[in-house]
Amino acid sequence: MLGNTFGRMFRITTVGESYGIGKGSGLAVIIDGVPPGLKLSDELVQEEMDKRRPGVGKLNSPRLETDQCHIFAGMAQDGVTTGAPVGIIIYNVDTQDIHIEQYKQYKDLCRPGHATYGFFKKYGENQDWCGAGRSSGRETVGRVAGGAVAKHILEQEGIEIISYTTECMGIKAREMSYEEAKANLRKNEINCPDLEAAEKMEKRVLEIKDEGDTAGGIIELRIKGVPAGLGEPVFDKLTALLGHAMFSIGAIKGVEFGAGFKVGNMKGSENNDQFTQKDGKIRLKTNYSGGTLGGISSGEEIVMKLAIKPTPTISLKQDSVNMPKNEIEELSPITRRDPTLLGRIYSVAEAMAACVIVDSLMMARGYDNVCRVENPWREI
Ligand SMILES: Cc1cc2nc3c(=O)[nH]c(=O)nc-3n(C[C@H](O)[C@H](O)[C@H](O)COP(=O)(O)O)c2cc1C
Repeated sequence: MLGNTFGRMFRITTVGESYGIGKGSGLAVIIDGVPPGLKLSDELVQEEMDKRRPGVGKLNSPRLETDQCHIFAGMAQDGVTTGAPVGIIIYNVDTQDIHIEQYKQYKDLCRPGHATYGFFKKYGENQDWCGAGRSSGRETVGRVAGGAVAKHILEQEGIEIISYTTECMGIKAREMSYEEAKANLRKNEINCPDLEAAEKMEKRVLEIKDEGDTAGGIIELRIKGVPAGLGEPVFDKLTALLGHAMFSIGAIKGVEFGAGFKVGNMKGSENNDQFTQKDGKIRLKTNYSGGTLGGISSGEEIVMKLAIKPTPTISLKQDSVNMPKNEIEELSPITRRDPTLLGRIYSVAEAMAACVIVDSLMMARGYDNVCRVENPWREI
């Protein structure tokens, strides 16, 4: 399997599966590029891990994982990083035989909407049949741990990331300012800061859950405090790096920046963000571009919308294919799942965004240091 490392200067490498070898299995992340002298602790990383943790409510998978993380490398005795790669491990604790047996029973069948078919095509009979292996939502545990370290670095740069649900099965949250959304984060299981809309969304998801089905939705991700000038103009546009990061997360099916797909119905005069000056700084009057121009951060808030598909595992009969027999077969209701991914996936999106921004900051500062560009416009 290729592609388990993400980033250029700030790099995360993740390992581990949903079930793996059963008892004693787990997931880990190795983080390269962590600066020395950063105060880190298991508790600090755990705060982020708890946002993603399953088994904590009616909208969550009943899998009872504690997701306790342990930093096992890259730190000195006094709790600060040394500059060496940081390693964090998280053991699987709820890999019950009953569920392993269930997966075994259906191991030759492809789960519609999930990754099994691609796994059969790539890895043949060795494909990981238990809990979707590296394609499981559990794989994202390592990303969130890596993202916790990235977020901690960003905090010191005055950069902050929030993400929350804006739409679910036709129910829309009202638009709100960064501060209002931030004040209402995680006030409900679906993580929608419009508390009235949240109630309706949760009710609808529970109805769909009772039907044995799952629900999709849309989340928004906002990054505040990113300085102008991050991202490269050609292949490594900041939009391209963030898009790569988001599309690397299972179940994310669409990524928009700023006005996104609405630009198809806008005039240039409506879509162009015009310039103004505020407190001696150049600013944009509007932010339809979503925080980047030409792939380079503009200094405005980075605003993204992410389309989240309904969880593929459902409790309804579906047509599948038995790969070894090469026959169409019915797949009966299967094991544990989230009725919607909205209440958990945002933490993974925040983590990946944090990794991209730290990496881009390091690239920009490295370039600046070597090139020593004389630039009178930097400070305005
Ligand atoms: C945090 C998280 C939790 C997930 N939980 C489940 C789950 O319980 N059941 C499921 O079928 N898929 C779950 N998924 C989605 C699958 O991982 C994903 O749909 C699958 O890998 C196929 O990839 P694709 O949807 O991008 O094609 C989860 C994804 C994430 C990010």
